[in-house]
Amino acid sequence: MSKIKVAIAGIGNCASALLQGIEMYKNSPENTIGLLNYDLGGYTPGDIEVVAAFDIDKRKVGKKLKEALLAKPNCTTVFYAQLPDYPVEVHMGPVLDGVSEHMANYPEDNTFLVADEEPCDVVKVLKESGAEMLINYLPVGSEEAVKFYAQAALDANIGFINAMPVFFFPSKKKGKKNKNKKKKNIIKLFLKKKYI
Ligand SMILES: NC(=O)c1ccc[n+]([C@@H]2O[C@H](COP(=O)([O-])OP(=O)(O)OC[C@H]3O[C@@H](n4cnc5c(N)ncnc54)[C@H](O)[C@@H]3O)[C@@H](O)[C@H]2O)c1
Repeated sequence: MSKIKVAIAGIGNCASALLQGIEMYKNSPENTIGLLNYDLGGYTPGDIEVVAAFDIDKRKVGKKLKEALLAKPNCTTVFYAQLPDYPVEVHMGPVLDGVSEHMANYPEDNTFLVADEEPCDVVKVLKESGAEMLINYLPVGSEEAVKFYAQAALDANIGFINAMPVFFFPSKKKGKKNKNKKKKNIIKLFLKKKYI
C-alpha cells in the first residue's frame, strides 16, 4: 500500500509529539498503549509520511524537520528522540495573526521569533510535495492564518485536517462552497486510499 502523505502547518509541540509518537509506534509495534487501533484498514503508524512542513520561527524555518521538531520554544516531553532524517525542510509560511502581540513580552525560549525569510508559495509547495492532506497545528487565535492554510489546501486540491479549536469559514456563502469542495476532496482521498 502507498504511504499517506501529509503536510504540517505549525511545527510546534503537537507536531513534535505526533511525529515522535509515529516513530515510537512504528519501531515498537508490540507497544500500542495509547492507540485505539494500531491497524486501520491495513495502514499502521509507519505508513504516515511527512512530505512538507511550514512554520514562521527562525529556529525552525530553513531547518531540517528533525531539527525543527526539537527546537525552542518547543517544550513538549521528548519521549522518542531517535527521529529519522526526514528529507523535509521547513518552509516559511505567511505570519498573518500567528504571533500575538503579547508574545513580545516573553523570553526567547518561551516565545516565537519570526524568521526574516519571505513566505513561500504554500500552494506550490503543497502540490510539488505530493501531500494528500494538510494538518493544521497553528496557535490558538490565529484565525486568519488558519483560513489561509485551509484555502491553500483547497487550492492544492488536498484535504485539510484541523487540529485546533477554531471556526474558519470566512462567510456563509464561501463557507458553503468551500465545505462542498472540502467534502469532495476528503471523499476523493478516502476512495483513493480505499478506506471505504
Ligand atoms: N487536537 C488536539 O488534540 C490538540 C491537543 C493540543 C493542542 N492542540 C492545538 O494544536 C495547536 C498547536 O498546539 P501546539 O502546542 O503545537 O502549539 P505551539 O505553540 O507549540 O506551536 C505552534 C507552532 O505554529 C507556528 N506558527 C505560528 N504562526 C504560524 C504561521 N502563520 N504559519 C506557520 N506556522 C506558524 C509557531 O512558530 C509554532 O511552531 C493549538 O491550536 C492547540 O490548541 C490540539
